[in-house]
Amino acid sequence: MSDNNTIPAAEHDPVIDGKAAPSPKRKGRRAAIAAVVVAAVLVVASAGLWVWHEQPSFCGAICHTPMDNYLATYEAPLGQATTDKWGNPVADSSSMLAAVHAAEGDTCMDCHIPTLSEQVGEGVAWVAGNYEFPLLERDASDLTEASGRANDELCLNESCHNLTREDLVEKTADMGTYNPHDPHHTELDCTTCHKAHRASVMYCSQCHAQAEVPEGWISMGESNELVGVKAAE
Ligand code: HEC
Ligand code: HEC
Ligand code: HEC
Repeated sequence: MSDNNTIPAAEHDPVIDGKAAPSPKRKGRRAAIAAVVVAAVLVVASAGLWVWHEQPSFCGAICHTPMDNYLATYEAPLGQATTDKWGNPVADSSSMLAAVHAAEGDTCMDCHIPTLSEQVGEGVAWVAGNYEFPLLERDASDLTEASGRANDELCLNESCHNLTREDLVEKTADMGTYNPHDPHHTELDCTTCHKAHRASVMYCSQCHAQAEVPEGWISMGESNELVGVKAAE
C-alpha cells in the first residue's frame, strides 16, 4: 500500500544521495520568499533604527564617548545643581538650554537639524576615533551652516521662537541699560550667551560690572575659568 503523501521520486525530483533534491522551480520560489523576508526585516529594522535615532537616548547609546555628557545635560531635571558637558559644576540646570528644552519635550534634533552629510561625516569620524575630545564647542553659525540656514534661525524660527531680533529687544526691555539683546556694540550670536550644554554666560559682564548676571548663570570671568573651555575653543 503506498502512502498518499509520498510521490514517487523518480517521476518528479532527481534523487541525489538517496534524498529528493528540490526542483529548480521550488528552489526559485524559496529564494524569492527568503528575499522578501529579508527585505521586510530590513525595512522594519531600519524604520526602527530611524525612530530610535530620533530619540535623545540614541546619541548616548551609540557614541558613549563623546555623547554621554551631552545626554546628561539634556536629562538633568530643572532647577537643580548638576554638571556640564565638561564636568564643571552647574548651580542650576535651568541655565542650560538642553535641559530647558528637554522639559518642553524637544529632542536633540529639534535644535540639531541633521543633514545627511553631517551625520555620515560624524559617523565616520566616530568609527575612526577621528575627533577631538572634548569636542570643539559649536556656535550658532556652526550649527546652522550645513542646512543652509542663517545663524539666527537656530533659535528664531517659526517653530521655536517666532520673533525678530527687534521683538526680542522689546520683550526684554525690562532688562534695562544692559539689555543683552540690544546690539549696543555688535550683533552677537545667541550662543555667545545662551549655552545648551553648560551654564549660560552673561557676556556683557566681561566689561560692564553693572550688567546683571541672572540667577544660575555665570559671568564671563567664570566662563573663562571652566575646565574644558580652553581645549574647546
Ligand atoms: C535647545 C537646543 C539644543 C538641544 C535640545 C540639544 N542641543 Fe546640543 N547644542 C546646542 C547648542 C546651542 C550647542 C553649542 C554649544 C553649547 O551650547 O554647549 C550644542 C552643541 C552640541 C554638540 C557639539 C559640541 C559642543 O560642545 O559644542 C553636541 C555633540 C551636541 N550638542 C549634542 C547634543 C545631544 C546628544 C543632544 C540631546 C541629548 C543635544 N545636543 C540637545 C543646542 C541644543
Ligand atoms: C549678551 C548675552 C545674550 C545674547 C547674545 C542673547 N541673549 Fe537672550 N538672554 C540673555 C539673558 C541674560 C537673558 C535673561 C535670562 C534669565 O533671566 O534667566 C536672556 C533671555 C532670553 C529669552 C527669554 C526672554 C523672556 O523674558 O521671555 C529669550 C527668548 C532669549 N533670551 C532669546 C535670545 C535669542 C533668540 C538670542 C539671539 C538672537 C539671544 N537671546 C541672545 C542674554 C543674551
Ligand atoms: C569688550 C568690552 C565690552 C563688552 C564685552 C561690552 N561692552 Fe558695552 N561698552 C564698552 C565700553 C568700553 C563702553 C564705553 C564706550 C562706548 O560707549 O563704546 C561701553 C558702553 C556701553 C553702553 C553705554 C553706557 C555705558 O555703560 O557706558 C551700553 C549700554 C553698553 N555698553 C552695553 C553693553 C551690552 C548690553 C553688552 C553685552 C551685549 C556690552 N556692552 C558688552 C565695552 C564693552
